[in-house]
Amino acid sequence: MIDSTTVERIKDAMDIVDIISEFISLKKRGTNYIARCPFHDEKTGSFSVSPSKGIYKCFGCGVSGNAISFIMAHEQQSYIEALKWIAKKYNIEIIEQELTPEQKEQINRKESLFIVNSFAQKFFSKNLFETKDGVAIGLSYFNHRGFSEGIIKEFELGYSLNNWDDLSKQAIKEGYKQEYLLDLGLLKRNDKKNVYDTFKGRVIFPIHNLSGKVVGFGGRALSSENKAKYLNSPESDIYHKSKVLYGLFFAKKEISRQDKCFLVEGYTDVISMHQSGIKNVVASSGTALSIDQVRLIKRFTSNIIMLFDGDNAGEKATERGVEIALKEDMNVKIVRLPQGEDPDSFCKTHNNTEFNDFIIKNENDFILHKTKLIADKTKNDPIKKSESIKDIINTISFVTSEVTRAVYIKECATLMDIDEQIIYSELIKILNKKTYKERQQQINKPATQPSKNENNVKEKVNEKFEKFEDEIIRILLKYPDKVLFIIENEGKQQEITTVDYVFREISDEINFITNEYKVILKEVKDAFDNNKSIDIKYFINHNNQKLANKVIKILTDNYVVSKMWSKKGNHILQEENIVKEIIDNAISGYKYELVLEKLKDIEKQLKEYDNKSIEEEKMKDLLDEYMRYTEYKMDISNRLGNRIVLKH
Ligand code: CTP
Ligand code: MN
Repeated sequence: MIDSTTVERIKDAMDIVDIISEFISLKKRGTNYIARCPFHDEKTGSFSVSPSKGIYKCFGCGVSGNAISFIMAHEQQSYIEALKWIAKKYNIEIIEQELTPEQKEQINRKESLFIVNSFAQKFFSKNLFETKDGVAIGLSYFNHRGFSEGIIKEFELGYSLNNWDDLSKQAIKEGYKQEYLLDLGLLKRNDKKNVYDTFKGRVIFPIHNLSGKVVGFGGRALSSENKAKYLNSPESDIYHKSKVLYGLFFAKKEISRQDKCFLVEGYTDVISMHQSGIKNVVASSGTALSIDQVRLIKRFTSNIIMLFDGDNAGEKATERGVEIALKEDMNVKIVRLPQGEDPDSFCKTHNNTEFNDFIIKNENDFILHKTKLIADKTKNDPIKKSESIKDIINTISFVTSEVTRAVYIKECATLMDIDEQIIYSELIKILNKKTYKERQQQINKPATQPSKNENNVKEKVNEKFEKFEDEIIRILLKYPDKVLFIIENEGKQQEITTVDYVFREISDEINFITNEYKVILKEVKDAFDNNKSIDIKYFINHNNQKLANKVIKILTDNYVVSKMWSKKGNHILQEENIVKEIIDNAISGYKYELVLEKLKDIEKQLKEYDNKSIEEEKMKDLLDEYMRYTEYKMDISNRLGNRIVLKH
């Protein structure tokens, strides 16, 4: 935990240009700085940094943020970690106290689970190097497998002594709650309700999340007496198997640098490859690749190379993984290792250069590989051939990019020696079936939920309101003190600023739907009531990250309304000279939409009365209301003049 005073000190000290310059070289352009975007691949410099606002924004890929979110995104860190990083850079001291038992109670559950896992990891590592059995059994096992001391320490490997309560005793002694150890699966209960160490007698492979924290463990048995070769931590509040890739924390830098990622099956494959210098490697750890795992990889590269043991390339489970990767528009290549080898063993007999040469010679595009295999197998069997073509086309149908699909179709047509047109028509059939299926699935959703259609309408309406809210907040934060006009009040002249005007106009009528904006309005109002000035940087670097991101987004996105105002006749109007018009437009637009909603609602009620015995009185009220709103609608409409309300 970092106390709020320190957080404020960090924010005061940080300089966005200074911080981003640690990672990329920025060139000055007018008042801003530009660079090639570190978040997507580009030749030109679309990445722009505004020192005055403390914001970055890429006009190529659209990312934006403040100094803290830059560190979070670039270094894959959490909010707290990013703050600590910045504190370190500016020599701001963060005192982290040794926790008392009471404090241990207090920190939230997730943090506690991380702390317990970290304790267990250290405990297992200590066992490995410092106990008699650890060295004789665990360490000697790793040494036999050829793991160096360096790699064992880097991957934080360990050993769990072959006792029932070794970890459990130490944990309780140090004040960790048994409940947490059970939740994490480090301890288990047997039939007699006695608690024992889950991983007893196993070597330990900690599993790290993206920021390097231990979320779970894999424990490998050392004798074949054990039923399961590996035991793995169960799912917990901090470990979701489908969202973690083994080794990614250690591989991420190299994956982005080389722009490709090797995918293997096991813990030992990852570690051996690392040791032989191939560091851009992760493992799905025995399960089929999930969509979240593919997305994790996609943050660093679009190129996956799957490495398979000599005998099992093309299994159903792998195909499923490939399909998911294709769906996410990844380039998927596969490499089959020689018979009887897995990446771990192959590394032992081949050095880094040999390994890479082998990959280059043997990597195959998955779809083409599959096609070639089938083409060979079905050469003389037309019926099998036609069945197999369907299978290949089905795989191609997972590719989302039309251009890539076209390339595959061309290649497959040649390889299988059939007409491209036939493949196309088959593909279209499959794609149509898919959309039909998706539609059916939506129709069949449980009836308790509002139907998709209703949701859609609601979303559309909300989207409209959100756009107006964006515009109002943007102007409010950019020009809070701008004097829009002057009124006479009891003989005195009174200047009406943007803040005055916005609060007067929205008053009770408009209730913002965006929660972050509600907070902003409240904070602006408080500052205003206390005669404090409103500083946009305060919101850009707000402690509520979601709020900060929203503010950054509206400041950097081009909005329709302001664009609409950017040209009048042939000369461009400066936004700051038409602040009042922009607010009027947004607020009137907002009210207009509110009235439309209200009218729709009344219409619906009236329709319901059509079907019932009519209560005269109520019906009359509704009609009156309807008329009032219709008048109001015309009124706003006139105020809006010929302006377009807001189209997207
Ligand atoms: N795995 C598992 N449970 C098992 C077997 C395997 O969770 N009972 C997972 C592990 O993550 C393992 C991966 O599947 O790393 C691949 O299995 P396998 O090839 O059998 O293990 P290796 O990693 O090759 O381990 P070793 O070389 O030590 O046999
Ligand atoms: Mn192996």
